Amino acid sequence: MKIREFKIDDYPIVRDLWQAAGLILRPGDELEDAKLKLQRDSDLFLVAIQDDMIVGSVMGGWDGRRGWIYHLAVEPEHQRKGIGAGLVREVEKRLVAKGAKKVNAQVYKWNERSSEFFKAIGYETQPDLIMIGKRLRK
Ligand SMILES: CC(C)(COP(=O)(O)OP(=O)(O)OC[C@H]1O[C@@H](n2cnc3c(N)ncnc32)[C@H](O)[C@@H]1OP(=O)(O)O)[C@@H](O)C(=O)NCCC(=O)NCCS
Repeated sequence: MKIREFKIDDYPIVRDLWQAAGLILRPGDELEDAKLKLQRDSDLFLVAIQDDMIVGSVMGGWDGRRGWIYHLAVEPEHQRKGIGAGLVREVEKRLVAKGAKKVNAQVYKWNERSSEFFKAIGYETQPDLIMIGKRLRK
């Protein structure tokens, strides 16, 4: 498995991958949003390649204080082969190089598979925190 940075031409394939893996797509997941992301920190948006095909992807974020992990997805038939862990490790390495001391990820309460995965690779739930948010524009 190789990891490389996402290119805008990958967008249709990566979007299909997000859907195949069961991610819930939101405003913020369109082509124009991927372009914005590339302007900001293109080195944190990664894809995993196997046999010349994209089989996984992750979007990292660095806000100058914390690292974030979004949209981690592995093609269903390629899961449980270490691809997800490999992608997260690579984002973590790149975040540390930027100065991050902590990385966070948001996981839906119902997504046990994802919380088990994150627990297995060293992430801890934070029951003292709740997620709050506000839509700024469509
Ligand atoms: C979560 C996800 C990215 C994990 O990717 P993956 O490549 O299958 O994970 P890995 O093979 O690297 O797993 C590493 C370890 O995590 C744990 N793990 C992974 N999937 C698990 C599952 N379904 N149930 C329990 N533990 C799991 C295991 O300990 C595993 O090690 P092992 O296979 O040696 O036992 C993948 O299941 C996926 O794409 N899910 C759908 C999309 C999603 O929910 N993304 C997260 C959004 S927050």
